[in-house]
Amino acid sequence: MEKIVINGGHPLKGSISASGAKNAVLPIIAASIVGTGTSIIKNVPHLDDVTTMNTLLIQMGVNLTVNDTTNVEICADNIHTPRAPYETVKTMRASILALGPLLTKYGTAEISLPGGCAIGARPVDIHLKGLEAMGAKIIVENGYIIAKAERLYGCHFHMEKVTVTGTENLLIAATLAKGETVLENCATEPEVIDLTNYLINMGAKIEGIGTPTLKIQGVEQLVGCEHTVIPDRIEVGTFLVAAAATGGEITINNANPDDLVVVLKKLRQAGAIITTTKDSISLNMHGKRPKPVNINTAPHPNFPTDMQAQFCALNAIASGYSIVTENLFENRFMHINELIRMGAEIKIAGNQAIINGVKNLNGAPTTATDLRASASLVIAGLVAEGTTEIFDIHFIDRGYEVIEEKLNQLGADIKRVNF
Ligand code: UD1
Repeated sequence: MEKIVINGGHPLKGSISASGAKNAVLPIIAASIVGTGTSIIKNVPHLDDVTTMNTLLIQMGVNLTVNDTTNVEICADNIHTPRAPYETVKTMRASILALGPLLTKYGTAEISLPGGCAIGARPVDIHLKGLEAMGAKIIVENGYIIAKAERLYGCHFHMEKVTVTGTENLLIAATLAKGETVLENCATEPEVIDLTNYLINMGAKIEGIGTPTLKIQGVEQLVGCEHTVIPDRIEVGTFLVAAAATGGEITINNANPDDLVVVLKKLRQAGAIITTTKDSISLNMHGKRPKPVNINTAPHPNFPTDMQAQFCALNAIASGYSIVTENLFENRFMHINELIRMGAEIKIAGNQAIINGVKNLNGAPTTATDLRASASLVIAGLVAEGTTEIFDIHFIDRGYEVIEEKLNQLGADIKRVNF
């Protein structure tokens, strides 16, 4: 087993490059199922979730090659087993993204029903209702979603909640459905836009890109193409918060500031000086302690829930009180108890964390409980006096590419240790 060990107290300084976005590459790899011929996906990050998605497709019969460090070639012309087994779905809920593509291209899909996960119940009812509205027959039996449709048909469907993977599943399904589909109340996250661009490159007819209403004219065939995945805005945001918390000065290249407007606004409120170019973001904290900032998570373009835990760590050492409100997931404060063990003063009241910033955190053994929670522990460890150990680091490897290498490059004292 492995753990991460951090000796805190080093301000981050220097520059790194962002990796491709996890939440864009997962739906894009799944969407490759609808293309005929080969797609080449570029800027693919090395993450456990990507390996899991690749393995899932290979098990189905997809011809998939990781052909150099960041390119993946995918040909899904000969799928023989349109199935996502429990063992895969339980480690990565994003496996549900195979449902829409399999159903619309092959007319059949069996996907293990995702259960609850660490950050909340996370149902998939909207995915299923949308596919049923397109004519799919769906039953849930023995823990599996079993979906069939000789052909999906265009429809008008309003999603009762904004759901990222729900929008992606229905969008992909609609590209090969017969006739026009109108999807309302769609997620507008940059990763949804990246997927839309990929589908359009394959020949899909989609209007309303980046808006809550997507209009899709179904086509008979999509053709594999080349696509470069957008930078990971959550990875970028995480490193910026880490630099702000340590009073550092960093530049992140291959980053898109337009995808991080609210996060950059909050970092500026916290006292960071931020400058941007078209594809880089620089942050300078001038060694100052951060000011507290209130956070309210909501779907894009509002503050992303995937940055909430990192800002809890920043607020934990800020010069005053702040309130962090989590509106998307009911159980996404598990990092708080670990931060308290490091000396943070935080109270949880329902979906709010009330944080009284302290001057110093102290290193401690901690346990990662989900992907972004683990990022907040890394940030806290970088700031804390003394040594912090983080256990269960498989959560970090799901979503951060070579995190300790990038942090070492910025002057942190962090290593991965076998125990
Ligand atoms: C995606 C992201 C995840 C991010 C989340 C919110 C991927 C692979 N994961 O997850 O990193 O934290 O968006 O930005 O892109 N809901 C329903 N019924 C459904 C679907 C969702 O009630 O059928 C609810 C969820 O319980 C949650 C809310 O809708 O309260 C938003 O969830 P959703 O956007 O679907 O999250 P994911 O797509 O799973």
